[in-house]
Amino acid sequence: MADEQRDVIEILEHDHREVEEMFTELESLRGASTDEARSRRKELTEQVTIELVRHSVAEEVLVYPKVEKKVSAEEVEHARKEHAEAEETLHRLEKLDPDDPAFDDELETLMGEIRHHIEDEEGEMFAHMRQVMAEDELRSMGARVEAFKKVAPTRPHPNVPNEALPRMAAGPAASLFDRMRDLATGRGTND
Ligand SMILES: [Fe+2]
Ligand SMILES: [Fe+2]
Repeated sequence: MADEQRDVIEILEHDHREVEEMFTELESLRGASTDEARSRRKELTEQVTIELVRHSVAEEVLVYPKVEKKVSAEEVEHARKEHAEAEETLHRLEKLDPDDPAFDDELETLMGEIRHHIEDEEGEMFAHMRQVMAEDELRSMGARVEAFKKVAPTRPHPNVPNEALPRMAAGPAASLFDRMRDLATGRGTND
């Protein structure tokens, strides 16, 4: 059903809104000390990490190479750099317990980095994609992004360069290993 297929920008912006909602809930739980609030913070941090990794790797493999050719190589270079920084932050955050005082600082850093990156993407890159790329092409990219996210890695891998080829070379092993660990530990939701 081609008409029902959302285009890639709709999909990616929808992901951005979901991440922002999780950030807002995480902010509202800051300093909360009940067991329930603490476990919710941990769960939300895992979910936001999974979503950000799948989303970013899909962009790096399927979206940025097209944007690089058709829209702006400079905007893509900037975006990859922001992904690399956020991935380092996710990696530090992954190792911290929500009770650790450093956790809030790293979370604060992550939220600042991602909110800024979302503004850049939506305000510049995606707006320029709309001007230059045909709706058909945006829809078929949308279908590929949706399929790719189902098999993408779920944990940060800051040692892998934020580019399509290294991501694809590392992808199957990283992704399988991440998903096996997720299943073994009950982390996140596996869809
Ligand atoms: Fe994005
Ligand atoms: Fe991005």
